Amino acid sequence: MSGPDELIAAAKKARNNAYAPYSKFEVGCAVQLHDGRIASGTNVENSSYGLTVCSERHAIAAAVLMGAKPGDVTRVAIAGDSPVSVPPCGACRQVLSEFSSEQTQILIYNYRDDSVVSFTMGELLPEAFSPKNLTAS
Ligand code: THU
Repeated sequence: MSGPDELIAAAKKARNNAYAPYSKFEVGCAVQLHDGRIASGTNVENSSYGLTVCSERHAIAAAVLMGAKPGDVTRVAIAGDSPVSVPPCGACRQVLSEFSSEQTQILIYNYRDDSVVSFTMGELLPEAFSPKNLTAS
């Protein structure tokens, strides 16, 4: 089973393929599944700016292609280069949460100072809307 360092390396590698010609803000993300497999993604911008896909949502889509189901993501790494570390945006928190648990670890790597900060999914999105809310009463 691979550890946090390998996951951060996968997020960095994904960031190398960022398509961010408009913002120039490149982000990579890697998610680890409970069986140890890793899926990754990067941000994909568009000349119609609002169609941009963040790295986290790209990584989740890649994980689903590998068979990921809700609760399967145990760890997430995000790699960016910023004066302050780059947490997932609100939309991405919701999408990550669908496939995570409250204990899922979110590691945020910043090239600027070679730092890693860590949160849990529950810290980043408390009281998340989830599939359980859709269950008919
Ligand atoms: N971006 C991500 O990929 N992930 C985040 O968590 C924050 C923002 C991307 C979207 C856009 O391509 C660029 O960063 C600037 O917002």
